[in-house]
Amino acid sequence: MNHSPSDKKNGRPLIRSAGDVLRQDLAHMYDKLGAAAEFHERTVVMTGGAGFLGYYLTQFFLGLKTRGMGLRKLVILDRFLFGEPEWLREMRGQHAELEAHAYDAASDEPGAYGSVAAADYVLHMASIASPTYYRQYPLETIRANVNGLERLLDAYRHSDRLRGMLFFSSSEVYGNPSPDAIPTPETYLGQVSCTGPRACYDESKRLGETLCYVYATSLGMPIRIVRPFNLFGPGMRREDRRLPADFARNVLSGEDIVIHSDGRPTRTYCYIGDAIPGILKALTHHSFDTFNIGMDGEELSVARLADIYAEVGRELTGYRGVVVMSAAEDREYLTDNPQRRCPDLTKARTILGYAPDIGVRDGVRRYLSFLLDTAGVRL
Ligand SMILES: NC(=O)c1ccc[n+]([C@@H]2O[C@H](COP(=O)([O-])OP(=O)(O)OC[C@H]3O[C@@H](n4cnc5c(N)ncnc54)[C@H](O)[C@@H]3O)[C@@H](O)[C@H]2O)c1
Repeated sequence: MNHSPSDKKNGRPLIRSAGDVLRQDLAHMYDKLGAAAEFHERTVVMTGGAGFLGYYLTQFFLGLKTRGMGLRKLVILDRFLFGEPEWLREMRGQHAELEAHAYDAASDEPGAYGSVAAADYVLHMASIASPTYYRQYPLETIRANVNGLERLLDAYRHSDRLRGMLFFSSSEVYGNPSPDAIPTPETYLGQVSCTGPRACYDESKRLGETLCYVYATSLGMPIRIVRPFNLFGPGMRREDRRLPADFARNVLSGEDIVIHSDGRPTRTYCYIGDAIPGILKALTHHSFDTFNIGMDGEELSVARLADIYAEVGRELTGYRGVVVMSAAEDREYLTDNPQRRCPDLTKARTILGYAPDIGVRDGVRRYLSFLLDTAGVRL
């Protein structure tokens, strides 16, 4: 039972450390998922599992043990593009059921690694996700989302164990939606450039979805697709170069918060603790389908998000920086940057029972609190 005093502002327990953030978020995720028993004694494989989403998914899956619903194996396959994170090395030392292998989705056969062939569930997350980095590695990004995905589908096409495979697509498959398609439902076909600097990501996610559709419908494989919308929180690398990580780095190092646009593009932001139950509900869904996963309230301008970081930073650390605008060194930073991004979650709410409820300010407070307490740890 949690005996922490209540935070009067939001009715949730007070957060004092990274451990508090994790404990609170795990309780929230188990509560929201409901059907976690489905994973008891299963083998779960996560490509790209050493990244941001992999961090909370790993916490989630390994935490099931304390609830009497432990996995048989959790297998992480990752190219460790930025080195093996410290949290993973630490958790491998603590959990015998956790395997991690250096694996490049662009070129390696997945079946050759450890317990991979015995998977009940597979999550294909391997891909560079941050625009700054996928523009630097466009071919690697395409190969992970297309060739790597196809290799993975082939590795399991004759499996009689596989219960679910989840492809991590992206809200970027919608490109820059027309104003009448905001909020954006899964049926929107997209307004996407196939030749711009973001195309390596957007178009390879789109072709990845097509591969999933073909394998699911022609071979009957249990494949589902999620399209995450701007998730943020613990597990994002400090140098990730997506907005929530940049703003957090600015606040925690006491620098001004730097915006590389006019501050007007809008997004909704979804805290990781809300997204994970939706992702896992999609994984265990009974038929082929595609789901938006994100937050549908609070469509905020980049400038407003920066203000929220500054305000929460002031509350937590006495932060004194201000929000400034400055052109990015990367000349393609804003090319094809969507002006608005907001999911229509009707389908995920109705079919999956997905129900995110952590507001942006609360999420930013949890994220900054977590980072403050883990300063010096390489995520
Ligand atoms: N986080 C979000 O808001 C978001 C939004 C839309 C889509 N997604 C998708 O979800 C997935 C996970 O995103 P994330 O935020 O955790 O990204 P991340 O960049 O934090 O992690 C991705 C991981 O994949 C690994 N990787 C990259 N290329 C690889 C390859 N060729 N072989 C093996 N491993 C490789 C990286 O080393 C990294 O550990 C990605 O497919 C991403 O496109 C995420």
